[in-house]
Amino acid sequence: MSLLNKFTTALMALSTLSLGAADSSWSAKMQDLSHVLPELLVDVSKENALQDRSTLARVKKNTAKLTELSHRIAKSQKTKKGGPIDADPSIGMLSVIFEDEAKHAQTALNQGHLEYARSILLSISSYCISCHTRTDFGPKFPVLKLDAKTDSLTIGERADLFSATRQFDRALAEYEKIILDPKVMQENPFEWDRAVKKMLAICVRVNKDPARAIEVLKKLPKNTTTVGFLDARLKDWISSLEAWKKNPKGPMHSKTPLGKAKALMSAARGLQIYPADESGAVYYLRASAELHEVLRQKLPPRTLAEAFMLTGMAYEAIDELKLWSLPEVYYQSCIRTYPHSSQAERCYERFEENVYAGYTGSSGTHLPVDVRKKLQELREEAKKKAK
Ligand code: HEC
Repeated sequence: MSLLNKFTTALMALSTLSLGAADSSWSAKMQDLSHVLPELLVDVSKENALQDRSTLARVKKNTAKLTELSHRIAKSQKTKKGGPIDADPSIGMLSVIFEDEAKHAQTALNQGHLEYARSILLSISSYCISCHTRTDFGPKFPVLKLDAKTDSLTIGERADLFSATRQFDRALAEYEKIILDPKVMQENPFEWDRAVKKMLAICVRVNKDPARAIEVLKKLPKNTTTVGFLDARLKDWISSLEAWKKNPKGPMHSKTPLGKAKALMSAARGLQIYPADESGAVYYLRASAELHEVLRQKLPPRTLAEAFMLTGMAYEAIDELKLWSLPEVYYQSCIRTYPHSSQAERCYERFEENVYAGYTGSSGTHLPVDVRKKLQELREEAKKKAK
């Protein structure tokens, strides 16, 4: 259902993206989002809250604002006016998906699919977070006054709200509470795992500092979770953080723009026992931050296409919730940037594999017609021309 729809529409909507030009109105739009989000999140975090008429009216009003802002943000990326001071094309890609998601929520509210709308809105902050935690770029706020009382939120929801509004220190403090809570660890190991990864994303990419993460993870007693593979992963995460602390520039010096990201990704693969093994997450997070830096530079199409592919691969390895189809978006950009090349063919393979995985369930693989058409189109675009 929704996930697949989301995936398809976002990809279909994604046309050629342009680089944003610096404009202070970007800050203004972002500040507006910071005003809308807290109240919205507090409302939708309560079960059955939308049964109440005045709450529903308020949620509708805030969702309309969110949709309008997300539209203006996506538009600023397409028209090159009023974008951020950041040429990373990921911003444009994410803004398309963000707008799409806000619109879905609005439509669901208007059609009376209240629980569905609530579930979309509950995870809307993840879009803010994925834009803001790409790397260390942009402002960090120690404390931002939020326009709503957040006491009713769970610790996890509050942590996400802080992270979405760029109050990273406050977010870390909340994630730490979850990580060090033996009850969460024992009874809800997957929630615990998510909190660890979100903490890692902030420590590794935003703060670029392994010390805090090491400190938190080392406070955990050994063999803490009830899930064996999580413990094994934890050990690898701590050792990769320690290796980084010892050698901040490691694992390898490189003169090419993509060299460092490639070296980090090969270190990550060295830790993985099977492809979906997340033991290499720290290295993949470091690699993705490097790649976001590279993507801000002016690159020849060939290098840019390779950067897109590597970013897709890094996200494939760390995109824990598989919510955003982010890897596919990067693979598609790779093909579009440098079509009819071996590079594009490799990206197409990754794209196809991800799409098939996304549409495979217990009853087999069912590709909708429009998705098959999309695959066909991209395959043609990727294929090297016969000489
Ligand atoms: C499409 C990407 C994207 C999305 C989605 C997004 N932001 Fe941002 N935001 C940015 C960028 C880019 C900046 C500038 C700093 C940077 O590069 O990280 C920024 C900056 C901000 C700032 C600082 C503004 C200033 O300069 O004072 C705030 C506050 C903010 N965002 C709030 C939010 C909130 C809240 C949400 C979600 C409801 C959100 N943003 C969603 C990309 C995004």
